[in-house]
Amino acid sequence: MKPIVIKIGGSTLGSYVLEDVVMLQKRGLPLVIVHGGGKTISNWLWERGLGANFSDGLRITDAQSLEIVIAVLAGLINKQLVAQVNSLGGRAFGLSGIDGGFIEARIKSPHLGYVGQVVKINTKPLEMLLDAEYLPIIAPLGYQPPQASDGAGMLLNINADTAAGDVALALKAAQLIFLTDVAGIADGTGNLLPSLTPTEARSLIARRVISAGMIPKVEACLHALSVVPQAQIVDGRLSGALLAAIEEHGDGTKVVGGE
Ligand SMILES: Nc1ncnc2c1ncn2[C@@H]1O[C@H](COP(=O)(O)OP(=O)(O)OP(=O)(O)O)[C@@H](O)[C@H]1O
Ligand SMILES: [Mg+2]
Repeated sequence: MKPIVIKIGGSTLGSYVLEDVVMLQKRGLPLVIVHGGGKTISNWLWERGLGANFSDGLRITDAQSLEIVIAVLAGLINKQLVAQVNSLGGRAFGLSGIDGGFIEARIKSPHLGYVGQVVKINTKPLEMLLDAEYLPIIAPLGYQPPQASDGAGMLLNINADTAAGDVALALKAAQLIFLTDVAGIADGTGNLLPSLTPTEARSLIARRVISAGMIPKVEACLHALSVVPQAQIVDGRLSGALLAAIEEHGDGTKVVGGE
């Protein structure tokens, strides 16, 4: 059975989502979670006198910020999530893209600093965990191998939405679901869009109706839809939202394939 890839936004951590996740795992559904951590990372940066700066929804990451991103994402948030799932009776296993070098990345654009774009995903560690009935919980970090024989490898910050899209694509997932802190994608007048084609999505991004943290989600959906049959953005603050999304009678926005 193909897994369902779920991206949990930092803003939805601690909501009902994990109870739904554990219930689905107990039903035998293979799940993979990729998590964000935007707000916690920004708080840690502010507390240390570092700013939080974004470009089209991607965090500009200098060397000092990268240390905090790694510590908070792969440390605090990842371990809290794993502990919460396990304490609810689930079987979670936390890892970042650096572990086993399973997400290979390279610097996306020099002006973003240590932000990675995915080059290659080795799905083996995820498949091993799924085969052993674990739920992989992924902190979105990437690894750039040394460029020269005497060079050092580089750790990179990958936007969690981007990573979720690439993981879904690599695993040929059955579905890709983004749980976030809004009801779905809103149009220019604030109304929820139940579905969105690639052409409409690109036009809304160009017109800045889709902005900030919604941009990488929509781009990840468009990227994954070449292989993954279903991609949705739903409200992770609501109890039962994940279940409804999986059973395809949920609210939120479906990004559909085609033109
Ligand atoms: N057209 C739009 N419709 C709905 N939300 C939008 C739109 N354009 C931008 N947004 C913003 O996108 C935000 C969701 O992305 P955000 O990055 O803040 O959260 P997340 O990705 O769920 O969490 P994290 O970044 O911690 O993983 C919404 O809170 C909203 O402010
Ligand atoms: Mg985000």
